[in-house]
Amino acid sequence: MEHFEIPTIRFLEKTQNQDFQIPLLAPFVTGKEEIYLKKCLQSGWITTTGEFVEAFERKIQDYTQSSYVVAVSSGTAALHLALKAVGVSENSLVILPNISFVASANAIHYCQAEPIFVDISPDTWQLDEQLLLKFLQNECYSKGKHTFHKATQKRISALVLVHNLGNIGNLTEIQKIAENFNIPLVEDAAEALGSFYHQKHAGICSKVGILSFNGNKIVTTGGGGAILTADEKIAQKVRHWANQAKTSKEEYFHDEVGYNYRLPNPLAAIGLAQMESLDFFLARKRYIYNFYTNILFGKAIWQRTLESVEPNYWLFTALFENSSQIAQKLQDKGIQTRKLWYPLNRLPMHKKCLYVQENDISWEIYEKSLSLPSSVGLQENEMEKIAEILQKI
Ligand SMILES: Cc1ncc(COP(=O)(O)O)c(C=O)c1O
Repeated sequence: MEHFEIPTIRFLEKTQNQDFQIPLLAPFVTGKEEIYLKKCLQSGWITTTGEFVEAFERKIQDYTQSSYVVAVSSGTAALHLALKAVGVSENSLVILPNISFVASANAIHYCQAEPIFVDISPDTWQLDEQLLLKFLQNECYSKGKHTFHKATQKRISALVLVHNLGNIGNLTEIQKIAENFNIPLVEDAAEALGSFYHQKHAGICSKVGILSFNGNKIVTTGGGGAILTADEKIAQKVRHWANQAKTSKEEYFHDEVGYNYRLPNPLAAIGLAQMESLDFFLARKRYIYNFYTNILFGKAIWQRTLESVEPNYWLFTALFENSSQIAQKLQDKGIQTRKLWYPLNRLPMHKKCLYVQENDISWEIYEKSLSLPSSVGLQENEMEKIAEILQKI
């Protein structure tokens, strides 16, 4: 295995979270963040425009090869605008996998649309394309340019494909299904910065995609997100909405209801420095993934990676028969773990929503899941401490 010299690091989460000596995911700060932030503060541009916002967008554009990038205040805001841009509106239905962070569903509610949850595949833990196809073929019909759900007569206005844990499922098949049923595909690549599908970056394989720069993501601005698209009109629209739909630089004229969703310049300064370290972050994530898979080989199972995918290994998660006991043992030694996201269909606000499933794989995976510390700055002695406990399983 490669050996890494870890430069000076600061575990921000450690100081916030005194309960855990080894946090699940902590930001990694190399130093350039301070330099850029200082430059930003000295420039006086402590606002939502400025050179760092532009530089950060350009950097994401270079890295992802997305034609257009619009930086916004969070991944949730990015998803809200992305859904609105593809025509998600009141009383329509939006399909998404049943396992995702709740923000994926919340953005659908913000558009006054209703989510339909589709169970995940037992090996990739991503939206099950076979279930999706069966649902569309048997329970929906096409009329004009749209697909409607037979039972409710509501239009299916989008399909949100979440790249769970920064990994990617059978995107080719899902693209085909979305195309055949005329359903706009939106990639929720919040966790997938640095992940590629057939050499194309996550989030640029559909009409519009989004990234998150939340505190636990591979690149963080504290809070932030971005919209990726090849469609100039969508890029213009979302930029306009994110800036309160303001039409003029000179006066406060707004041509529709907008949002205050712009990314502040100081946060973009942090983001730019973080982006410059992304290759190092990715190498560290791969190293941590190899560490866990070596220790757990034959003792646990983890997400399958398809050949077409180069994931970012954002957060190592495995399935154990006795995940709660293992979590307790790790917690006793100050090591933080988490289960995956609670299946969306079981959250109180989704009780009446449709859940497309045959064997409720989501619940089984949720119950057995355990995410293990995966910070870029995880130290060798910390890995030894974790290994000691895991090897006793
Ligand atoms: C899959 C997914 N979608 C959306 C979001 C929302 O992003 P943010 O926290 O930046 O609003 C997150 C994470 O935070 C996420 O993991």
